[in-house]
Amino acid sequence: MHTATTPVATPTTYPPSQKTVRNAHVSGRAAYDRLVAEAEADHEAYWARLAREFITWKKPFTKVLDDSNAPFYKWFEDGTLNASYNCLDRNIERGLGQKTAIVFEADDGAVTQVTYADLLERVCRTANALRLIGVKKGDRVVIYMSMSIDGVVAMQACARIGAIHSVVFGGFSSQALRDRIADTGAVVVLTADQQVRGGKHLPLKAVVDEALALGGCESVRHVLVTKRTGAEVPFEAPRDQWMADLLAVQPTTCEPEWVSAEHPLFLLYTSGSTGKPKGVQHSTGGYLLHAALTCYWTFDLKPEDVFWCTADIGWVTGHTYITYGPLALGATEVVFEGIPTYPDAGRFWRMIQDHLVTVFYTAPTAIRSLIKAAESTPAAHPRNYDLSSLRILGTVGEPINPAAWQWYHDHIGGGRCPIVDTFWQTETGGHMITPLPGVHDLVPGSCSLPFPGISADVVDEAGNPVPWGQGGILVVKKPWPAMIRTIWGDPERFKSSYYPQDFQGRYYLAGDGAIRDAETGNFTITGRIDDVLNVSGHRMGTMEIESALVSCTELVAEAAVVGRHDDTTGEAICAFVVLKGALPVGDQATAIASELRTWVAREIGPIAKPKDIRFAENLPKTRSGKIMRRLLRSVAKGETSTQDTSTLENPAILEQLGQVY
Ligand code: WT7
Repeated sequence: MHTATTPVATPTTYPPSQKTVRNAHVSGRAAYDRLVAEAEADHEAYWARLAREFITWKKPFTKVLDDSNAPFYKWFEDGTLNASYNCLDRNIERGLGQKTAIVFEADDGAVTQVTYADLLERVCRTANALRLIGVKKGDRVVIYMSMSIDGVVAMQACARIGAIHSVVFGGFSSQALRDRIADTGAVVVLTADQQVRGGKHLPLKAVVDEALALGGCESVRHVLVTKRTGAEVPFEAPRDQWMADLLAVQPTTCEPEWVSAEHPLFLLYTSGSTGKPKGVQHSTGGYLLHAALTCYWTFDLKPEDVFWCTADIGWVTGHTYITYGPLALGATEVVFEGIPTYPDAGRFWRMIQDHLVTVFYTAPTAIRSLIKAAESTPAAHPRNYDLSSLRILGTVGEPINPAAWQWYHDHIGGGRCPIVDTFWQTETGGHMITPLPGVHDLVPGSCSLPFPGISADVVDEAGNPVPWGQGGILVVKKPWPAMIRTIWGDPERFKSSYYPQDFQGRYYLAGDGAIRDAETGNFTITGRIDDVLNVSGHRMGTMEIESALVSCTELVAEAAVVGRHDDTTGEAICAFVVLKGALPVGDQATAIASELRTWVAREIGPIAKPKDIRFAENLPKTRSGKIMRRLLRSVAKGETSTQDTSTLENPAILEQLGQVY
């Protein structure tokens, strides 16, 4: 367990301006305190009130929370709704049909806009196409597409007919895609011919073909292919169908499938402490409520705002803050296909200027890399752009270091925009601990206080509260509507991962350490307390990477993976590898290291490539044979001398591990 015990030195705080307070949906600390008190006084009545205000129900719910089979909590279960109806039809019914829903900017800069009416028509036709090929309520549909209007449409179309989507990030390899398709038992895969990022054309359809050829995906009946680049791709009719051919003959309206609030809206795979990713299952009603509510309170979205979340739809941030939340509020949002550094590192800032973005949400790792770029390439500096449209900034995915926070605040926000440092997880569905722009005094590096209705706290290993100012384990004491419902196909793992017996199954365990400020109670997240790494905001299990390495059976005998700090990516992956052959040195070691990186990229995806690889004839183990991970973490940091190695079986290998490839 690596939880911090030393409080942070008193930093500068940034209270919200009076204007921000006056105009915000949650206006001032007293308004926040009232919401918190309302939730504390009657948790269920509080969430029921908001569920009625933010969601249009086909059939109203009569029961709020069913905790009879905890921790398999159910919210609003006898209520029925449709997520796509709530995001599209409902907005059109209130007169927003001609409002721009999405401003899409392609990798090459081409801009396409769709109104709410356009989007509804595209979603309906896609939904009809899915129905035509036999997709039914509850069927799983895997979406392997890049950032596009079509990607959002695909997700919304699934929601419209009650099919459960599972988006797989376009950077995952065929192996990883195969594992996810097989685990969901998907009947259809939606993909595109290719994706375009940073001027490069990359395969999608070919990867799907590879995944299906690996076997285990017999449930898949069809692959529907959208044209992005028009490249020649392998095509195997009747399994493969061009999406455009199907859409051409579809009606432009589609009756939504009204589902129970508990009907699964989607599965999204994320890494845990074992080699096998977990299919996090989300509900329709509770999830949609939190998606909309957090957009309303945390991002303070108003009708005239232009919201831009730079995340990919392959991650939960893209689900909640691209596909569902902003649309549920009838907002206008930017969707971007490309990468922040193409054609140059001023891309984000130019796009904010061109599209008059008012609320901007990105990841600390992107900010850190753009700081570096701005320092080395003056043309990429944000000072060259007019960013005066911005009014709120947000970050997500990992702790933001105070220096990056300050730069974001000064150079992007012009010193006037509050920064919402939003702590949450794939499993939580939406923001859990976050400043609200018109409420909190901001402290760089702290995600401030829980979202109203979220009972987050810090406890010790026995589940007892720890005093403010002392580090501990982050838990959530009461269920909340957007919480994970189960792990697809593995309810036992759901229970043991999130409601462990250590706390008698009472608390949701986030898997992070945290510390609350001794005076304000503000939370600072101190990092994962399990074997999960966070590299550029991407979550990866050390075990997952270890299994990928040892599956290279020709070369690798044993492998251990740990994280170390990295200034740009937050954490970096360090692999310690024992080869089957002799200990490699020099060029040979460099070549093998590069081969192993390629291997891992093929097994999982390029994001999982180890940054450092160190070889040895053996891994440092205790006499009882346990790998000394704590020691490996020190070696990875480059500090071996301070370690107690007296229990080490074979101290000589420490020298071998000194060399990084
Ligand atoms: C893990 C969840 C939340 C959507 C994107 C990542 C870390 C996330 C913060 C933050 C410090 C953060 C935690 C968490 N994390 N946001 N604002 N401050 N840490 O979702 O892949 O499920 O990862 O990301 O460690 O457990 P995810």
